[in-house]
This record gives sequence, structure tokens and C-alpha cells, in this order.
Amino acid sequence: MRNLTEANVTEAVIQTFEGTPNERLKEIMTSLVKHLHAFIRDVNLTEAEWLAGIQFLTATGQMCDDKRQEFILLSDTLGATTLKDLINNRRPPGMTEYTILGPFYRQDAPELPLGSNMAGDISGEPVVVRGRVLAPDGRPIPNAMLDVWQADAEGNYDLQMPDLEGMALRAIFLTDSEGRFNFHTIKPSFYPIPHDGPVGQMLIATRRHPYRPAHIHFIVSADGYASVTTELFAEGDPYLDSDAVFGVRGSLVVPFVRHESANEAARLNVSAPFYTVDYDFVLEPA
Ligand SMILES: [Fe+2]
Repeated sequence: MRNLTEANVTEAVIQTFEGTPNERLKEIMTSLVKHLHAFIRDVNLTEAEWLAGIQFLTATGQMCDDKRQEFILLSDTLGATTLKDLINNRRPPGMTEYTILGPFYRQDAPELPLGSNMAGDISGEPVVVRGRVLAPDGRPIPNAMLDVWQADAEGNYDLQMPDLEGMALRAIFLTDSEGRFNFHTIKPSFYPIPHDGPVGQMLIATRRHPYRPAHIHFIVSADGYASVTTELFAEGDPYLDSDAVFGVRGSLVVPFVRHESANEAARLNVSAPFYTVDYDFVLEPA
């Protein structure tokens, strides 16, 4: 290891992992060094750029606390989270696709009866969400659980509403004996990811925006099936093709169908105008 050159330094570093007892750690460290060195060669990294990178990662760490995880945001905005998710959630065609959980999930949302309004007092355009939870052969799954959460019409989750005590815009629903669910809510808005830190600086420098298209989050689970974490996206949203965290899947984009009829609204116990969203979730047997 005395005569290190551009040509042999990578191999010299990799050699130092020879004695790693944990085989998986050895594999990961070896690959990491290979790719890190390849990156430095690829861009001919300068002294100033190396320092800027160190400062960026330092600032990213310093931005983290128990509420803010800037490194996850960095992973999300570089598509690393989505790539990891795609690799770890491979499913046969026809199953509801997985997409990112995001930072706003909270356990122990209130369980509400089917047909309830999970928006409570929060104002917005009414939406009726309806559908079924199905097995791959089309059989309905009774008693499946839908854990649902979303942002309001300004793009804020309850955690971002300073005057709010407790939870809002989240609920758990159980499907009926025919695998059906329906609930009322309000139309969510697109929203920006937190962009007042180093990740925001990266987005500005690369002329990217921080927005996610409007969506409703779901975790759908049932006994005997693999649960799926997913989101339904509003067709027509301006950010569907440029989600800042790469969460959109074509199969999860659904129309929010607008209705003007007061009679139809009265029948569904909402006020006109309102929207309907129809979607059937398909779960893979465990
Ligand atoms: Fe979200």
C-alpha cells in the first residue's frame, strides 16, 4: 500500500475489507468504494467540489432532528428511495402497486364507520371515495383494513396545522362483507416537500420544483394477504409528471370525477359540487 496510484488505489481500499466477518457488510462496503471511486473519476472531482460535497452532507445532517429527516428527503429527491422500494416490492402484474409511505403517516388513526366523513370540520371540496378490496382472482376481501391519510385543500397534513389538537384527515375503515368501502373526505391539494434546507438548495440549483401531485395515502391490509402501502393520485394534477420524490405510478392515477347535480349530492349525503373517486385495491396472497 505504499505506491498508491490512480490506477490501484480502489483495489487497495477494497483489499482492506478482506477480513470483514459479516459477508453482507463486506459486499456493501466493497461495492460502495467501487462506485464512489468510479464517480470521482467520472467527474474528475476537484478539491473545491469535494469540499462543497462534504459541506452539503454536513448541512444535511445538521438539518435533522426528531421531526425533520433531511437525509430521507435527500434519498427521496434523488430517486434512491423509489429504487429501493421498487426492488423490495416486486409484485405480479395486476396487484395494486406500492409507493412511498412518506413522512406524515401516524399510527392509531380513529376507526370510522363506512360512509363517514374523515375531513371532520376541515373545509374543502367534498369527495366520495368508493371501491372494493379484492384478491387477484376478483374475489372480494371482507374486513380488509384501509388506513387512510391525506393533506387538506392547502396541502397541509394535520401535523402541519399549528392550531390543531389531535388528528385530522386520517381514519381507518374496514370493508364490508362484499369487500366494499366508501368514505367522504375533501379534495387534497398538491404540496411542496420541506425545501428550506440543503435539499431545497439542491432543488433550486438544479432548477427543480419541490412539489408532489395531490394524493390520498393508503395502507391496505387483510388477513392472509401482503399489505400494500400506496397512494391514489388525482388525474389532471400539474405535478403528475414531475413528482419531486418520484412516487407516481400510472396505475395509481385516478380521475376525481366532478358532479354538479344537487340531487346526486343529496343521495350521497354531500353538498354539490362534489367529486367521486372509484378504485379497487388488489392484494397479493401472503
Ligand atoms: Fe403525502
